[in-house]
Amino acid sequence: MEHAAASAGRFIRDRSRELSSLVWETKSPADFVSEVDVGAERIVRELLAGEPLRLHGVDEPLPVHMIGEEGTPDAEQLSDGVTWVVDPLDGTTNFLHGYPWYAVSIGALLDGVLVAGVVLNVATGESFAATAGGGATRDGMPIRVSTNTEPSRALIGTGFPFKNIDRLDLYLRQFAAITRRTAGIRRAGAAALDLCDVACGRFDGFWELTLAPWDVAAGLLIVREAGGLATDLDGRDAPVAFGPIVAGSPAMHGWLLGELRA
Ligand code: IPD
Ligand code: CA
Ligand code: CA
Repeated sequence: MEHAAASAGRFIRDRSRELSSLVWETKSPADFVSEVDVGAERIVRELLAGEPLRLHGVDEPLPVHMIGEEGTPDAEQLSDGVTWVVDPLDGTTNFLHGYPWYAVSIGALLDGVLVAGVVLNVATGESFAATAGGGATRDGMPIRVSTNTEPSRALIGTGFPFKNIDRLDLYLRQFAAITRRTAGIRRAGAAALDLCDVACGRFDGFWELTLAPWDVAAGLLIVREAGGLATDLDGRDAPVAFGPIVAGSPAMHGWLLGELRA
């Protein structure tokens, strides 16, 4: 997974030098894609499909499936075997504007359970990873969520519901409440990296109302393996699916969830 992310990352970095020649296609209002998203996904797909996967001691290769934002967004999660969940370029709008904060995100489910995640920040080179039960790392070093318990000192990440404007009124009420009670809010523009920033303690918490499976698959595991919580707005463990995410250290997650629900 790290090899696939690195290869796609090199491709994206090369293309970042010729932004003015890129053609933006509009998937829906404010949602763009270019040949870079599509090309990066092709690289990840080819590398992940390169070798059959076997469980230790089992001859039969595992069934393998891929949900990729650009090529196979509607693919089903397999209840047995491996499902790769890939966002080839998270932060496309940042990328297209030369704003240096975008990533390749790859999650892996085995029999429907998240087992591994990799998020590579292509602009900075920072690489986050986690395996189920094996902890979370940044550039190979273990990471933990923040130890701050005071909301008044907290830095909270968020994402705006720019593709789901019907959620804007609710979001703005939440935004006002969190702004009043914390040290600050940041909207960096790549949800996979927002979750990694929770995992390594830069953000005390994060919330966004509408995310997709490929935005969160890797980041959910990275947060949890770093000692954090990542749930829906009812406080249930968030699945790899479309929906809202509330993440944070255990203390800040509880506080943030309570404020958002209120
Ligand atoms: C988007 C980014 C953004 C978030 C959006 C996502 P994309 O992903 O993660 O931060 O607010 O909801 O769709 O389209 O750049 O891959
Ligand atoms: Ca994304
Ligand atoms: Ca994307």
